[in-house]
Amino acid sequence: MKYSMQFCHVNMNAGQTRVHSPSHSLTKSKQAVFYPVLHNVRSKMPPCNFKPEEYKVKAAFSRHTVTYYKKPVFIHQGYMQWLWDVDGRRYLDLFAGVATVSVGHCHPKVTAAAEQQMKRLWHTTNIYVYPPLHEYCEKLASYLPDPLKVVYLTNSGSEANDLAMLMARLHTGNFDIITFRGSYHGGSPQTMGLTSNAAYKYPIANGLGCTNTMCPDVFRGPWGGSHCRDSPVQTIRECSCAQGHCMANEQYIGQLKETFATSVPSRIAAFFGEPIQGVGGAVQYPKNYLKEAYQLVRDRGGLCIADEVQTGFGRTGSHFWGFQGHDVIPDMVTMAKGIGNGFPMGAVVTTPEIAASFAKGVHFNTFGGNPVACAVASSVLDTIKENGTQQISLDVGTYLMTELAKLRDKYEIIGDVRGKGLQIGVEMVKDKASRDLLPPEAMNEIFENVKDMGVLIGKGGVYGQTFRIKPPMCITMEDADFFLAVFNKAIHNYMERR
Ligand SMILES: Cc1ncc(COP(=O)(O)O)c(C=O)c1O
Repeated sequence: MKYSMQFCHVNMNAGQTRVHSPSHSLTKSKQAVFYPVLHNVRSKMPPCNFKPEEYKVKAAFSRHTVTYYKKPVFIHQGYMQWLWDVDGRRYLDLFAGVATVSVGHCHPKVTAAAEQQMKRLWHTTNIYVYPPLHEYCEKLASYLPDPLKVVYLTNSGSEANDLAMLMARLHTGNFDIITFRGSYHGGSPQTMGLTSNAAYKYPIANGLGCTNTMCPDVFRGPWGGSHCRDSPVQTIRECSCAQGHCMANEQYIGQLKETFATSVPSRIAAFFGEPIQGVGGAVQYPKNYLKEAYQLVRDRGGLCIADEVQTGFGRTGSHFWGFQGHDVIPDMVTMAKGIGNGFPMGAVVTTPEIAASFAKGVHFNTFGGNPVACAVASSVLDTIKENGTQQISLDVGTYLMTELAKLRDKYEIIGDVRGKGLQIGVEMVKDKASRDLLPPEAMNEIFENVKDMGVLIGKGGVYGQTFRIKPPMCITMEDADFFLAVFNKAIHNYMERR
């Protein structure tokens, strides 16, 4: 990559970072790294041969709509990792409509599959047998380990999680469900109870039988060290744990035991966990946490449910499903978003035994398993295989995180870089010593600046303190370099202004 620009130093406070924690003395030497700050970064955007259509109906909307951004982005068209606004301005999309566009906007192969199906049959329900639906279910099930072989198709992630809640309660005869603080599992009246983030809660009765437990967050939580998580980048915290031992994990498991002892009955229905928290800000748990938690849940009669709405379909790079990275097999897996590359679809996959408990009533869903959705989703699976999508996630994601870690070492306000594959979080702080949150105005300023330089990223975390990067999984190393230059410049600009 060619750079012709100034090099910028940031004083690393004599190379020392110190973080206070109840359990660890956290002093770490950092080497100041040089990361170039480009001028006129937008002009370095990688080329794209695709020609978008001109947007003609200019007066049809209000430019004062309230959105994520101070100056909203009015999207008109998409192609692979690119989006164009109504004025023809191109953006590198690193948020993918919240980890939803898996193989690329309007991916030609998936679009062709949708077009072909739309000419053949739009709709039928399970009053009839529609063979392609069954073919798709078989194909999807082939990506899951035994005994996860029974598939239910829905229209969204919330609907999939609603169904999983119902099935868990019916199968176990228990009612209580545990989730992590900071999690997002949906916005329906039932799943709002699973979701443990105040921003998404409404002041109405919800969440009966839902209890949250401490999220084992090794960066922001009370415990964490220097090799807790399964990521190319560890936290800035230090610990004296011997290899293969994780004191943070023991503490967080202790908190889960405390929840069992104080907040739920002795028998529970389920535990829902995302393999890596999505909306929560790409939060990763200590390596053995889920394995131990699953055992504790099962000891109490509960089912273990992996919410793969964001982490599924190869996004974590090392595996097709996020749960595989934790070496566990859930009793149910819920999925949506990437399953249809943006086409509305979701699914619950479970065991024949759990499915049998659910067969006591008639389950009917008019649009679940819609023929067009099945054709799209089937083509998504083929595309992931043919395009090496999972490998791209691993390679580009690992590169991005490794380079972002250099920016973390350069800038005092980047507290943590984490994730796996193309599920990445960059948590922002006032300074590394306190780990206090970077204020929302500062987050917004950087966020807006990144967008103005041509890259769309996301924001998340319970306090909106984490930038989220979860692009369509077709991005290239060149795109990654462009984003790194943009992000570097945005942070540099903010540091100069503040
Ligand atoms: C992990 C997770 N589960 C469930 C959902 C709900 O999915 P949907 O918005 O399709 O209802 C989301 C949505 O963001 C999610 O991130």
